[in-house]
Amino acid sequence: MVGLLIVGAGGHGKVVADLVQASGHWSHLSFLDDTYPKPDQVGPWQVVGRTGDSCFFLERHPAAIIAIGNNQLRMEMQKRLEEEGFRFPTLVHPHASVSSFCDIGAGSVVCTQAAVVIGAQIGVGSIINTGASVGHDCRLADGVHVAPGARLAGGVSVGEGSWIGIGATIREGVAIGRRVVVGAGSTILQDVPDGVTIVGSPGRIIHGEALERTLIPSMRTNL
Ligand SMILES: CC(C)(COP(=O)(O)OP(=O)(O)OC[C@H]1O[C@@H](n2cnc3c(N)ncnc32)[C@H](O)[C@@H]1OP(=O)(O)O)[C@@H](O)C(=O)NCCC(=O)NCCS
Repeated sequence: MVGLLIVGAGGHGKVVADLVQASGHWSHLSFLDDTYPKPDQVGPWQVVGRTGDSCFFLERHPAAIIAIGNNQLRMEMQKRLEEEGFRFPTLVHPHASVSSFCDIGAGSVVCTQAAVVIGAQIGVGSIINTGASVGHDCRLADGVHVAPGARLAGGVSVGEGSWIGIGATIREGVAIGRRVVVGAGSTILQDVPDGVTIVGSPGRIIHGEALERTLIPSMRTNL
């Protein structure tokens, strides 16, 4: 058993720490956060430094996980720490249900009550949050966040860095582009282009490059 460094001591950091504790696979865990030295404690765990100090903790914590909600920041930080020599485990809460016939990348986290079903592939540095479900044969790229209670039906694909909001539902086979934000509670029935924010049921694009470029009325409704 070795020590684990959690980068980010906010709400998601706490969720990850709780998961780590429940898994029992790590001898100790510590946080890095840019608010250091205040607070120097999160629950029973110590905040030991700032994110830029990571290399000083490599020997005592050879493994790390980035617990930052922002997808782009999380990916950049994971890349930097990998270059420093940290290894990135895949963390699965003991109360999550994950098929043995799926792939989940390094640094990804599957939270309590989440389900990842046969044939699903999830990239590196992703978050499958509390109670979310990823259906059979879904393909999620790197740095994706599926927020609590969101549901992806079978064969959905999600591009790099996209965020599926809390309680959203994605119909089977739909392709969500890169850096897309799907609003809380939205229902997405058709493919979504890169870089847009889409909300509502059925989804409509409210901002993003694709809207500015195309302004196709059918893209604003019934997505
Ligand atoms: C999609 C989201 C990012 C948009 O935020 P925003 O860019 O600040 O957008 P605004 O709040 O200014 O809303 C713009 C319009 O979209 C509507 N809208 C925003 N989010 C919506 C949603 N989830 N469903 C339906 N309509 C929504 C607003 O009512 C508003 O409509 P109007 O112009 O007719 O008044 C945000 O509302 C959201 O849903 N975030 C997800 C939160 C989440 O999943 N948290 C989990 C954390 S783990």
